[in-house]
Amino acid sequence: MNTNVRPDSMERITTPELAEKFIAEQIAEVRAQVGDKKVLLALSGGVDSSVVAALLIKAIGKQLVCVHVNHGLMRKGESEQVIEVFRNQLDANLVYIDATDRFLDLLKDVADPEKKRKIIGGEFIKVFDEEAAKLDGISFLAQGTIYPDILESIKAEESGKPVKSHHNVGGLPEDMQFELVEPVKLLFKDEVRVVGKALGLPASMVDRQPFPGPGLGVRCLGAITRDRLNALREADAILREEFEIAGLNKTVWQYFIAIPDIKSVGVKDELRYEGWPAIIRAINTTDAMSASIEEIPYALLHKITARITAEVEGINRVLYDLTPKPVGTIEWE
Ligand code: XMP
Repeated sequence: MNTNVRPDSMERITTPELAEKFIAEQIAEVRAQVGDKKVLLALSGGVDSSVVAALLIKAIGKQLVCVHVNHGLMRKGESEQVIEVFRNQLDANLVYIDATDRFLDLLKDVADPEKKRKIIGGEFIKVFDEEAAKLDGISFLAQGTIYPDILESIKAEESGKPVKSHHNVGGLPEDMQFELVEPVKLLFKDEVRVVGKALGLPASMVDRQPFPGPGLGVRCLGAITRDRLNALREADAILREEFEIAGLNKTVWQYFIAIPDIKSVGVKDELRYEGWPAIIRAINTTDAMSASIEEIPYALLHKITARITAEVEGINRVLYDLTPKPVGTIEWE
């Protein structure tokens, strides 16, 4: 039997009861597969790896070692939430690595988007590899593979063309000799979310909008500087907060701020005030291949503009990107 094919008889997980049944089955399967051995997981804090972590903690407790690499390009509060949920609430065996300086030093003066992606992806693997080498007795590697990932790789193999040009930062070296544990590999994203809720993960983690592996690195446009990155993180947090208050987080697929490497002239407290523009991007899509613009109410745009320009050091304008995909991609880089 090919374990990478979802059987037609497999019921779609839409309710907490079905999720509980799935969780019980997976716990038994994982225990049978792993025995008393140790399992390693790269825990980004995204939906898939978080659900896998919570499931494995239930199944094998401290035999699971989670490694969270903070590349310094996370959104505000994200790494803190990983620590709070997994270390403090779920008592996970969590290794937290703050590699911010390593990443930002390597990215200094690098303006080309693809070079930035390569540096971030490559360094992520290096940091993770170094941590894995320090751990004794790991036999398994857990991954948050989900069914669309499997379908995409089958399609890519058949056509000879990779479907995605971007790879998630969680990509791991091919020479790692671990057996894989992939408990959600036959699930679609909506099912993973139902399972995550049944496992008790917070809605803010389970319902998260997609976030690119290179993180804020591809939204701090051009060569990244710490001051512009900080401004981006703060402005993005305000946008997210306001979308949540307005309930738009439930209807808009992806929304974020990008900040280009240009300054314009402004005025503050009657003095010349040069600053960056914060660009609001809010889109809806089904597959991220094409996207339409979410029409944000003007009153909300005014409120977000007022807050960002008042609260974030270095930003003196707020712009609203009205470009659908195509012709603009969702991310600016
Ligand atoms: P684009 O910008 O290509 O984005 O229209 C489509 C979707 O992919 C996400 N994206 C990435 N995800 N690594 C990722 O894991 C990347 O390098 C990357 N670049 C873009 C983007 O956020 C959107 O959801």
